[in-house]
Amino acid sequence: MSESSQKIKVAVSGACGKMGQEVIKAVNEDSNLELVAAIDVCNLGKDIGEIVENKSCGVNISDNLKESVKNSKAQAVVDFTTPDLVYKHTKEIIECGARPVIGTTGLSEAKLDEIKDLANSKKIGTLIAPNFAIGAVLMMMFAQKAAEYMDNAEIIETHHNKKKDAPSGTAIKTAQMMSEAQKKFGKDNCAETETLKGSRGGLTESNIHIHSVRLPGFVAHQEVIFGGKGQALTIRHDSFDRTSFMPGVVHALKEIMKKEEFVYGLEKLL
Ligand SMILES: NC(=O)c1ccc[n+]([C@@H]2O[C@H](COP(=O)([O-])OP(=O)(O)OC[C@H]3O[C@@H](n4cnc5c(N)ncnc54)[C@H](O)[C@@H]3O)[C@@H](O)[C@H]2O)c1
Repeated sequence: MSESSQKIKVAVSGACGKMGQEVIKAVNEDSNLELVAAIDVCNLGKDIGEIVENKSCGVNISDNLKESVKNSKAQAVVDFTTPDLVYKHTKEIIECGARPVIGTTGLSEAKLDEIKDLANSKKIGTLIAPNFAIGAVLMMMFAQKAAEYMDNAEIIETHHNKKKDAPSGTAIKTAQMMSEAQKKFGKDNCAETETLKGSRGGLTESNIHIHSVRLPGFVAHQEVIFGGKGQALTIRHDSFDRTSFMPGVVHALKEIMKKEEFVYGLEKLL
């Protein structure tokens, strides 16, 4: 087999976006990955290498996901688009026989279940990862551990002000992992009245309050605060720029090729 035929053929959906552009650079830099398609609705027909790195890479931007994946014989497709597209895109990628590596957030639990069933029935390794930063994944794992011992916890997540969904996928996933360790948080809180609606944030089934902050200048940040008698524990992670997500994306592309089932969360591939 030639060297290029051993590389994993990768397509990037949302290629011109903030995350997509970083993924294009990361794929082009990795000797085991080969960029074969770039999908976006802007810069149609242009060479994605020219857009991202000012040098041609021979892959032109198309707006047709299914056609691009099929024609390029992509084996894995990274998607960083928008919450309203991610469900459709993930299904289309699976139906084309390629492995989805999904970073786009905003999927409901019901949609996640549908994707899980489709991926498992077709035996196509499918990763949905609310956060590709290894440090953020560790934050979630540490928060899950702390939740075994501390009964009161709240989450504050901060993102840039162009983020469309709230709370973040990371906050939801963190709360889910903590809820595996503890079913009900804040049981000793008193009855509350909100004089300003929403002041206490969003509430999960396990009674974790999630507060979403949206401000320019930030990228992706989260604090999980545990309170106990006479003490507090804060677990914090900061993504200062989007390169923080790339080692996770590259790792996921390689690991998902070994899978034939649905995987939710990068921690399952570490
Ligand atoms: N999982 C993670 O680690 C992680 C990290 C950062 C951001 N995100 C999520 O990734 C998503 C994208 O974030 P971003 O900051 O790059 O957004 P962005 O707005 O910069 O990029 C989105 C891109 O999708 C493109 N697009 C729109 N319609 C399309 C279509 N039909 N087909 C293909 N492309 C299309 C847009 O033109 C744009 O280039 C968001 O949901 C964000 O929350 C996830």
